[in-house]
Amino acid sequence: MDFRYSSIRKGILVAGGKGRRLAPLTNVLSKQLMPVYDKPMIYYPITNLMLCGIKEILVVSDSMNMNLFKNLLGDGNQWGMKICYKIQKKPDGVANAISLGESFIDKSNVAVALGDNIFHGNDFVNLLRSADSISKGSTVLAYPVRDPKEYGVVKFDNSGNVIDIEEKPELPSSQYAITGIYFYDNTVFKRIKELEISSRGEMEVTDLNRKYLNDKLLNVKIMGRGMAWLDTGTINSLQEASFYVKTLEHRQGLKIGCPEEVAWRQGWIDDLQLEKLADSLSNSGYGKYLLKLLRTKYTR
Ligand code: TTP
Repeated sequence: MDFRYSSIRKGILVAGGKGRRLAPLTNVLSKQLMPVYDKPMIYYPITNLMLCGIKEILVVSDSMNMNLFKNLLGDGNQWGMKICYKIQKKPDGVANAISLGESFIDKSNVAVALGDNIFHGNDFVNLLRSADSISKGSTVLAYPVRDPKEYGVVKFDNSGNVIDIEEKPELPSSQYAITGIYFYDNTVFKRIKELEISSRGEMEVTDLNRKYLNDKLLNVKIMGRGMAWLDTGTINSLQEASFYVKTLEHRQGLKIGCPEEVAWRQGWIDDLQLEKLADSLSNSGYGKYLLKLLRTKYTR
């Protein structure tokens, strides 16, 4: 695969938060380190950023969990990447977490992935690529959900133009929720500085996206029904996500959200490096899968 098209070279993985809906699980462990079937939750969003061709990622999380993230992901070199870390002292909102990446991002555009969102689907990588190739403004993905009340919801006019994003509306004006992957140009940091604290006491990503919308610089891409967007913020959704991944992985014998595989397929690591990673995990089905990738390389 050729990933040179990518206009965005850096990403932020937002992996802090309170995780109140998962308490007491989250009392002593970050939600994003919990298993979604056979791997830590954060592997899924990190793989999505990698699929956009992004090799430099900043992980933002709280001080209690930061060392655990560092132990898990290291400096990224094992996957041919560079992974850096920044502590968010208080869970002051997603937009606040993004703002902490200003010096890391420098002059680049930025892709932001929420650490608790899982995407999957036939055309998803192409959708990511097309979102990523728009270099001006902001691009977000919207997905139809049965009950959009818990999300930022897109409001359309009669011609299908986006006219507003409503945060957790009582009476949603459409079924389309904004998902947890966002592409921003470098004006994002200036815009965050202009945000006001919401009634929830946070700097909201919806308010940030609304700023782009008001300047006619928000692109909303619709995800079709053949794709899956799962958020893992509640006990039920966490379990459903695990079942989803288990069902597909068992049926196909292919993994979803496997950073080693994506790094290898993109040529960021070679066969020997993959073998080394696989050997260190060889007692698990995960490690065996990596070894199998090498053995079946020419028969795929
Ligand atoms: P949310 O799911 O909106 O919030 P939360 O994770 O704190 O959970 P709860 O509502 O159950 O208390 O957060 C979305 C993502 O953004 C998630 O991956 C956590 C992350 N996040 C931060 O990194 N910093 C923050 O200040 C907030 C609010 C969220």
